[in-house]
Amino acid sequence: MSAAMTLPPTALDVTAVRAQFPILQRTIHGKPLVYLDNAASVQKPQAVIDAISGCYQQYYANVHRGVHALSEQSTAAYEGARETVRQFLNAASTQEIIFTRGTTEAINLVAASFARPRLQPDDEIVISAIEHHSNIVPWQMVCQQTGAKLRVIPVLDNGELDQQAFVELLNERTRLLGLIHVSNALGTVNPVQPMIAQAHARGIPVLLDGAQAAPHFSLDVQALDCDFYAFSGHKTYGPSGIGVLYGKAEWLNAMPPWQGGGDMIRSVTFEHTEYAPLPYKFEAGTPHIAGAIGLAAALDWMCSTGIQAIADHEQDLLEYATAQFRQIPGVRIIGQAAEKSGVLSFLIDGVHPHDIATVFDQSGVAIRAGHHCAQPVMERFGVPATARASVAAYNTREDIDTLVSAVYHVKELFG
Ligand code: ALA
Repeated sequence: MSAAMTLPPTALDVTAVRAQFPILQRTIHGKPLVYLDNAASVQKPQAVIDAISGCYQQYYANVHRGVHALSEQSTAAYEGARETVRQFLNAASTQEIIFTRGTTEAINLVAASFARPRLQPDDEIVISAIEHHSNIVPWQMVCQQTGAKLRVIPVLDNGELDQQAFVELLNERTRLLGLIHVSNALGTVNPVQPMIAQAHARGIPVLLDGAQAAPHFSLDVQALDCDFYAFSGHKTYGPSGIGVLYGKAEWLNAMPPWQGGGDMIRSVTFEHTEYAPLPYKFEAGTPHIAGAIGLAAALDWMCSTGIQAIADHEQDLLEYATAQFRQIPGVRIIGQAAEKSGVLSFLIDGVHPHDIATVFDQSGVAIRAGHHCAQPVMERFGVPATARASVAAYNTREDIDTLVSAVYHVKELFG
């Protein structure tokens, strides 16, 4: 019996979970769908689909603007969604919860509104070598605008950050640490708590990109003590086009708005505008109302399913898959950190990752192949791309068995 076969069963009732995801009934090229592209975007349970369609069918209207019943109901649901997000993150106040289009917009908001006004030439922003492009490019842009410099924490061969180099990078010029919580390309879970403590000991604020952590962990921004936390709806079983920026109120209050328009003002004349208080100061224009409501339904779904049960189940699948992949000749896993979540990035000798994904698709197996919006990670590991399987609550050990069979099939085809 292989090591993988001895892994313990998990508490999640996966059959019951799967029954809540209508798309999992689909076939692809005549085969049952095995959806393992969850790090790119997760499928949606019926509760989320119902919440979105219920909003449009029963009470949709613009928020914060009308005195009529529908607008009041929409506003209550939208602000209720903010409270749900607050609870999910354990933020101190709904004032600290800003709805954005996603993680990318949240980070751009912090770059434009927090960093840019504070940065002087030769100030430094520290990020890591395993960031997604969304936590690289906004900082490059703000560095170009201000003359500040980007510093990068190197990554070790196993996919973990070099902690010694990290400590040495922090200095009196460092103005912000921007860190991915879980790497979308490698699956590495960064030790964010001690890294935040190290940064704070030097008075450096910290932003965490939680896009790949929020679907898998229980989060507590007060315990983490991060200054900003960003995540996306579409990776947490919710809709795309909605996401969240958490920021400590003391920072958000001190930051200028980054977009001007309706809903973010208290009063406007041609001479002067008074801005609305938090969180509205950062939500110019009509927001993604049904998106926020759908996101809240998704977070409620995660909490009622059991975030720890989901995490344990996904960890079981990752270990089960990793143990089998390690035994396949010619397969190389990229990213072997001691602590990983959700993601198995791999190569098959002599086969381009795009070909792997194309052949897998014929077997009904959906994975992502490419640079995963993390080109510097690919460069660091000397590969143009990887194939990446990523798990969610509804995946099963049978899905992993199909994945492993698909790997053997690719090896036969490209022999
Ligand atoms: N950032 C997403 C991914 O990792 C799209 O695939």
